[in-house]
Amino acid sequence: MTRTAIVTGGSRGIGRRLVERLAASGVDVVFTYRRRQEEAEGLVRAIRESGGIATAARVELESAEDIAALVTEHFPEGRRLDYLIASAAASAFRPIPELTINNIERSWATNARSFVLLVQAALPRLGDGGRIVAVTSYGSTRAFPGYGAIGADKAAIESWVRHMAAEFGPRGITVNAVNAGLVDTESLQHYYDVPGMPELQSVIDRVPLRRSGSTDDIVGPILFLTGPDAAYITGQVIAVDGGLTIVAPPFWSEVTLRAR
Ligand SMILES: NC(=O)c1ccc[n+]([C@@H]2O[C@H](COP(=O)([O-])OP(=O)(O)OC[C@H]3O[C@@H](n4cnc5c(N)ncnc54)[C@H](OP(=O)(O)O)[C@@H]3O)[C@@H](O)[C@H]2O)c1
Repeated sequence: MTRTAIVTGGSRGIGRRLVERLAASGVDVVFTYRRRQEEAEGLVRAIRESGGIATAARVELESAEDIAALVTEHFPEGRRLDYLIASAAASAFRPIPELTINNIERSWATNARSFVLLVQAALPRLGDGGRIVAVTSYGSTRAFPGYGAIGADKAAIESWVRHMAAEFGPRGITVNAVNAGLVDTESLQHYYDVPGMPELQSVIDRVPLRRSGSTDDIVGPILFLTGPDAAYITGQVIAVDGGLTIVAPPFWSEVTLRAR
């Protein structure tokens, strides 16, 4: 039987690469986008031309109605869902005193609340062996400028992951998070373009693997978590960050004492 997936945020970045790779492995993918309709439709065309199956659905993740409609329209009763992967994210990158109520609430609704609502809506379609994966970030456990609102949302998602894993375990459903470091996407550049931010390269220099991650670096572990080798992993947050979060100041890039 053809496996099925829902991927949020498939119009670009990590979500897009995930959609491509799932479809290339024969999964029938329903992915969401918000504004990038042309990119989403282009992706569907490319996948269909190469013999895969994909459908793009416009979903505003701040809307509970849109989330419910995504599942009822694409996964009506009787259609089984195998993988639910939440990759979409958005927030305002501002100092904490400048965050408006609107910024805080929209960030929460887009990132954390949407994950919970989507899981609630999709749960009846996920059977034994169903997999849920959320993409979070090192901002869930580390503090850095402008990331307060979304960092807190990512921490909340990771807590939900553990609670969901415990609650859905008896149904044979696993729930995990992939916690990403710096990943080569438009959003990474957008963050470092915020006035007052350092050069991206100066941060990459502090990462033990000395590079930002590619979208494939993140998609690989997500696919692993959906595969048979990860059947006994649940409730976990797996860091995929080139070592970014294992180091502390002083950084190797800033001292001369280092391995020859
Ligand atoms: N890039 C990084 O360096 C990095 C680092 C750590 C963690 N992550 C995490 O990895 C995931 C993917 O990141 P990314 O950089 O590839 O992309 P992203 O910018 O975080 O997400 C982009 C996707 O989210 C969709 N989206 C944004 N707001 C939405 C909303 N309100 N409703 C519906 N869809 C919405 C966008 O749709 P449209 O484009 O169609 O509007 C797009 O498909 C995110 O969870 C992010 O936090 C990324």
